[in-house]
Amino acid sequence: MHTSLSVFFIAIQHSHAKLLEMFRVQKITSLDLPELAPYRTMRRPLEHERQGIFVAEGEKVVRRLLESHFEVVSVLLPEKHLEEFRPLLEARPEKITVYLADKKLLESLIGFSMYQGQLAVGKIPPPASLDDILSKSPKPLLLVAVDALTSAENLGALVRNCVAFGVQALIVGETSSSPFLRRAVRNSMGTIFQLPVIELAKLGLRHRFKTKPHATKSTLAECLKELRARGVRCIAAHPHTDKKRLSQADFSGDCCLVFGSEGYGISAPALEACDEAVAIPMPPTVDSLNVGAAAAVFLYEVNRQRGKMD
Ligand SMILES: C[S@@+](CC[C@H](N)C(=O)[O-])C[C@H]1O[C@@H](n2cnc3c(N)ncnc32)[C@H](O)[C@@H]1O
Repeated sequence: MHTSLSVFFIAIQHSHAKLLEMFRVQKITSLDLPELAPYRTMRRPLEHERQGIFVAEGEKVVRRLLESHFEVVSVLLPEKHLEEFRPLLEARPEKITVYLADKKLLESLIGFSMYQGQLAVGKIPPPASLDDILSKSPKPLLLVAVDALTSAENLGALVRNCVAFGVQALIVGETSSSPFLRRAVRNSMGTIFQLPVIELAKLGLRHRFKTKPHATKSTLAECLKELRARGVRCIAAHPHTDKKRLSQADFSGDCCLVFGSEGYGISAPALEACDEAVAIPMPPTVDSLNVGAAAAVFLYEVNRQRGKMD
């Protein structure tokens, strides 16, 4: 027996034509329902990733999810927020269940003080197609690839920069975290819903599963070589090169910028697969920038050279 108090269909209040598209509201007094498992297990985002879903947290992120073309499974809110979200919920093409809960119940979930109880579960879309990106995106192309980036927060910040600076797709290396981990989605401020993502299948056992339904099966190094063969210049953002500084690099043609991990930078195979390495000059006392900050500096320079920052 579950603990729901009432279930009713908002659809009844609306025109017959929209009946199939309306959302369903369910008040809950506990989080025991099996459908609420993603909210109960917010500390286990890798499980969500394996199931092809993610959790969006906070007013802005939930709103951006509802405005996006991503499939939404459910929403969990304090009742007082239902009216704010109603227009967006009514505009959705799929039937979403909106769970309404008291603040007290929502406070038992992690991170409540940060997201104020507004949560949603969405489905990770299938990976974007490299062929489509290369053939359909306006030129010159601007792609970003990440190698072994494991901090979900950094990945989220990098995604936000990518969208802000007009990156057409993000290629996520086989040893990187997913940009659909809860903290990555949160740090991206929901901009991840606007960015085509090509996730390469995990090779290692770090996540206890080797492939994901939404991942494609090639390594980042292979993918970079393919990009080069198709005329896209691959440029490694690499603090340790003295061969080229950012101000000397040419970003006028199609390019893919490659960013490395927090601890070790870009791995040897990925670095070797690039056309060149470029550094933002650093004083001798500073090893490197945070990857999100480095991406913002590079992407600003690309846009500046392409006349897009005037
Ligand atoms: C925190 S840094 C990696 C630091 C790492 N200890 C290393 O030795 O490379 C993470 C990533 O941000 C980018 N990055 C950071 N600072 C940079 C700089 N000064 N020039 C170019 N890229 C930089 C690179 O892609 C790098 O792999």
